[in-house]
Amino acid sequence: MIHVSLQRLVLKNEVNYIISQITGLINTPVFIQDAEGMALFGEIDQYQPFRYPVEIDNKTIGWVGGGEQAAVLASLLSCLAKQELEKKSIGREALEKYKEITLLYDLAEKLTASLDTAEVAQLVIDEAKTLIAADNNSVMLVNEETGMLEVIASSGKELHPGEGLKNGTGIAGSVVLTGRAEIVNDIPSDKRYVPGAVRVSSLMCAPLKIKDRVIGVIYISSEDPVQYTAEDLKLLSAIAFQAAADIENARLYDSLKETFLTTVYTLAETIEKRDPYTGGHTKRVMNYSIAIGKVLGLSDTEIGRLELAAMLHDIGKIGIKDRILLKKGKLTPFEFAEIKMHPIYAEEILNHIKHLRDIVPAVKHHHERYDGCGYPEKLRGDGIDIKARIIAVADAFDAMTTDRPYRKAMSLQIALEELWANSGTQFDPEVVRAFFEAFEKDELLVKKGW
Ligand SMILES: [Fe+2]
Repeated sequence: MIHVSLQRLVLKNEVNYIISQITGLINTPVFIQDAEGMALFGEIDQYQPFRYPVEIDNKTIGWVGGGEQAAVLASLLSCLAKQELEKKSIGREALEKYKEITLLYDLAEKLTASLDTAEVAQLVIDEAKTLIAADNNSVMLVNEETGMLEVIASSGKELHPGEGLKNGTGIAGSVVLTGRAEIVNDIPSDKRYVPGAVRVSSLMCAPLKIKDRVIGVIYISSEDPVQYTAEDLKLLSAIAFQAAADIENARLYDSLKETFLTTVYTLAETIEKRDPYTGGHTKRVMNYSIAIGKVLGLSDTEIGRLELAAMLHDIGKIGIKDRILLKKGKLTPFEFAEIKMHPIYAEEILNHIKHLRDIVPAVKHHHERYDGCGYPEKLRGDGIDIKARIIAVADAFDAMTTDRPYRKAMSLQIALEELWANSGTQFDPEVVRAFFEAFEKDELLVKKGW
């Protein structure tokens, strides 16, 4: 059951500010107490006849006392409490979804080191090469969706990753069907053989089995005639036995990683859909950011984090009410203060998810300015995570070049001039320079649209 504590609400900086402003206007002593009578603000006056309830859905969570005008403060606190409750419940739904996927992801991580399927397959080939003499080695896996037997990793000239044959054809396909390892020392006389890039004379092929299910094969061949023996086949089968579990785990991990990214992206899109004016914003900011990151020479790991952070940069808006988020007119200072909370809300959400914790600085600081005048922490220069500095440029460029509730899109030329004019103040000049370089190379795909 989600509930809102009046004490916590009153302690929030922005709420505390509002209370002081209102009590200043009322000009009579005001006190706030919780439902149990504990003082939260001001001094409780036992004899004060005016006490107004702070309520959420007819449930009293506290009282405001102090003159007739205190009723204004009580109803304002009721509104803020209600808003807090709504924010919590939306956030909770998102968190539940995240937690579920994170549990699966954790499990997969325990099962295998963080290698992908092709890397595991390559390790298997390397191991086979040291134990059995052969010119060509490959690991092929059955693709259940396409019905193909696909080469995942290889060495030598006969087969290459990405190639494949229809499952059931060739000697490898036949091993998948029977589930039995085979030696063929006289290839030309075997009708099943499908010639590849080089002529081979002898081969061995062993199934990769998970219980009774064949998920693929390990295949080795020699261009010169050799006589593979039953002992060789036993060795290859032992390698295949060990490899099958590792490969299956890697495949499971790969597919969970995919599911995880898709879930994160879907969530980002769900948030974006609240605001029809920003359709496609997330994807564009992601692509601009990656293009800039590549020009700046960020490592693959950092680019991966940048992609996730750009995808989720506005996830905190889940906590902002539609009334403020979609407002067409000018925002009041209170409303603007609420909008400015979205990086903090994002931090709260992302900190709950182990796999997203390391992108918190990039998301939390995407509205900081290079000159230190941004929010939420007024960080400046290199003190701002580089990924946040990149997202700031990508986000601003997209905001300028798309229609917003309160204004039409700027022309491309004016938007570029704006970026340039604010380089060194709002934006990191190095990032703006990288943006222009990516733009020159047409890597932002701006001209092509999405
Ligand atoms: Fe934002």
